Amino acid sequence: MPHKAAILSSGGDSPGINAAIWAAAQRLEAAGWAVLGVQGGYAGLLRGDLIPVSSVQLLRHARRGGTTLGTSRVTDFGAQLDVATRQLEQRGVTGLMVLGGNGSLRGASALERAGVRVIGLPATIDNDVAGSDDSIGFDSAVALGLQLLDNLRDTLESLPRLGALETLGGDTGFLAQQIGIIGGADALLLPERPVSADDLEFQIRAALARQGFALIVASEGYPQLEHTLAELELRVEQRLRFSRPSHAMRGGNPSAHDRALAWRIGTTGADALIAGQTGLIAAQGGRAVRLEFTDLPLQKALNLLP
Ligand code: F6P
Repeated sequence: MPHKAAILSSGGDSPGINAAIWAAAQRLEAAGWAVLGVQGGYAGLLRGDLIPVSSVQLLRHARRGGTTLGTSRVTDFGAQLDVATRQLEQRGVTGLMVLGGNGSLRGASALERAGVRVIGLPATIDNDVAGSDDSIGFDSAVALGLQLLDNLRDTLESLPRLGALETLGGDTGFLAQQIGIIGGADALLLPERPVSADDLEFQIRAALARQGFALIVASEGYPQLEHTLAELELRVEQRLRFSRPSHAMRGGNPSAHDRALAWRIGTTGADALIAGQTGLIAAQGGRAVRLEFTDLPLQKALNLLP
């Protein structure tokens, strides 16, 4: 009986997930493993919805956004571990690979404690997985956000106004911070670093005086974001145009950087499964390293700003 791997993407999709699934499958096949794809994330695993996949078929999707395996959010997965492990046993799965963000990787870690050999890969545009500098999808989302911010700037420079761009990011500000700093935003609203209404007004008034317009980048998880912006409008007596690209930020084809990261992390994850290892494959200093789930820091600190 050949070894059998199952690959599962969970939580939000992110550009590059398909590339990582392909890279891992290709490596597993080369080692003689059979590969199954779990359809629809953890919900699909609980249903036992696993189908054979091949790297030839997966390569067709490697350049595209989304996830060809589908995904889901299962809030009570921890309470259904016995169902999940039974499904894997019944299908003769020797090793499981999980791609996703913090919630998905918590599920992977719980499966490991339940006796499953499991490798997790950080794949979220939020880039908030503790222990990993980078995450599959982050670079593509930054590139898109930057383009949107630049477009907004084109307009504000022509017709001076007050504008704000909201990014995804959950309750973290990694994505907003990266886009805002590179794009030269006049104010950043990050959940980890709330600013007072007075400070925000000061920053915006200074930008208006300097250049006639002001550009804000805000992460969706900023406390009372809409209220903060409405209050700012009143204070500076200027209409604010608020751009909310929402889930469009998570879509689109992956950047070359994300495809390279997906390949590096995906193949390293496959090698780890083949070697019988478990844990998270993290990006550290441009390299893919394996960390034990138990050694992961609880939270990743926002550290780009001084
Ligand atoms: O975790 C990735 C993410 O895109 C976050 O940035 C966002 O807050 C969340 O998923 C949205 O979740 P959903 O797609 O379930 O609405």
